[in-house]
Amino acid sequence: MSDSFTRWRQEEEQRLLATYSKFPFALARGEGMRVFDVDGKAYLDFYGGHAVAIIGHCHPHLVASLTRQIGELIFYSNLCYLPVRAQAAEKLLRLLYPEMARVFFVNSGAEANEAALKIARRHTGRERVVAMQGSFHGRTIATLSVTGMDKYRNAFVPTIAGATDFVPFGDMAAIEALDPAGIAAVILEPVQSMAGAVTAGGEYFRALRDYTRRHGIALIFDEIQTGLGRTGLPFAGMHWGVAPDIVTMAKGIGGGIPVAACALTEQFTAGIKIGDHGTTFGGGPVACMAVKATLEVIEQERLVEHARAMGELLAARLAEVPGVADIRGMGLLVGFALPRPARDIQSAMVAKGVLVGVSVDPRIVRLLPPLTVGEDDVDVLVRALKEVAQ
Ligand SMILES: Cc1ncc(COP(=O)(O)O)c(C=O)c1O
Repeated sequence: MSDSFTRWRQEEEQRLLATYSKFPFALARGEGMRVFDVDGKAYLDFYGGHAVAIIGHCHPHLVASLTRQIGELIFYSNLCYLPVRAQAAEKLLRLLYPEMARVFFVNSGAEANEAALKIARRHTGRERVVAMQGSFHGRTIATLSVTGMDKYRNAFVPTIAGATDFVPFGDMAAIEALDPAGIAAVILEPVQSMAGAVTAGGEYFRALRDYTRRHGIALIFDEIQTGLGRTGLPFAGMHWGVAPDIVTMAKGIGGGIPVAACALTEQFTAGIKIGDHGTTFGGGPVACMAVKATLEVIEQERLVEHARAMGELLAARLAEVPGVADIRGMGLLVGFALPRPARDIQSAMVAKGVLVGVSVDPRIVRLLPPLTVGEDDVDVLVRALKEVAQ
């Protein structure tokens, strides 16, 4: 461990609230698929900067667009109109489910989910929410209340989880057994990423869409990890021909600038009036420029199609690793097991200069690389995994 790393670690540990177990390095910069630590060591980033760097680190188009924006106007709030906000919304709506009509920009995934839950309650006039066991929707009290991982939710009781029914992901009968009368929304991730890239299949999602429509319940897709092309289509429900009423996005939507969004159908805008919701920073010019530039890169570099092809390649190449099992996920959101705990694999991979994620399932290693990932990068990953799997 270098002196400079030791120094930066001590400085953070002295002054910052410790809520994360961290990678053993301090970063100085990033470029494309790689980040570089303060000693100049490169790491190939198959964790995609916490699923955020969807166009890679410091993409030149994003850097140039942000630099220009910062020189022109760093901030003004939703109290005024901003051309860049309208342009970001227009680009986002073009990529989204065609059913989506309006966008609300916020600053984080949890805030996007908060907005979605408020909209669903307002629209339906009901208050109960159905959420999935194994789900993750954020760290605020309201989003913890619909997070189906006891580890996170039960640490902060009482939440408002008294108004939430948790059901097993993929189990339609469990939802049908509930009384639909007081239910405002069903909220779920198309792929449960933190749970270990768990999927449920198209039949379930189509049945859920029918059920929620029949009972006037809002269907909310949390596409904070699956949106913006990660699964090989712009949004995950598109794989099954299922559009939600409300969709939330965060992580890579601004290429690394903190920004998130909630989009909804025209029908769900009914009843929302001036003053019902707000945020100081959400929809600011730098954040909106980040969204606009990120979406331009996704379009110009055909990253959704690339993600689909690379997702297939990645799954096929992972299968070559001796001992690999349980490859799951969609597109470039991939989970797999090896006959060693995922945390051990992660540490061994970091030592080899390759970053991978773990999950709440101690067996499952998770990969969420930038959508720009190339075949050469997959070669490096697979080679390193073969070595650590021995
Ligand atoms: C599926 C999902 N929903 C919500 C969130 C919360 O997003 P944020 O950390 O930006 O509040 C996350 C974060 O990891 C997530 O993965």
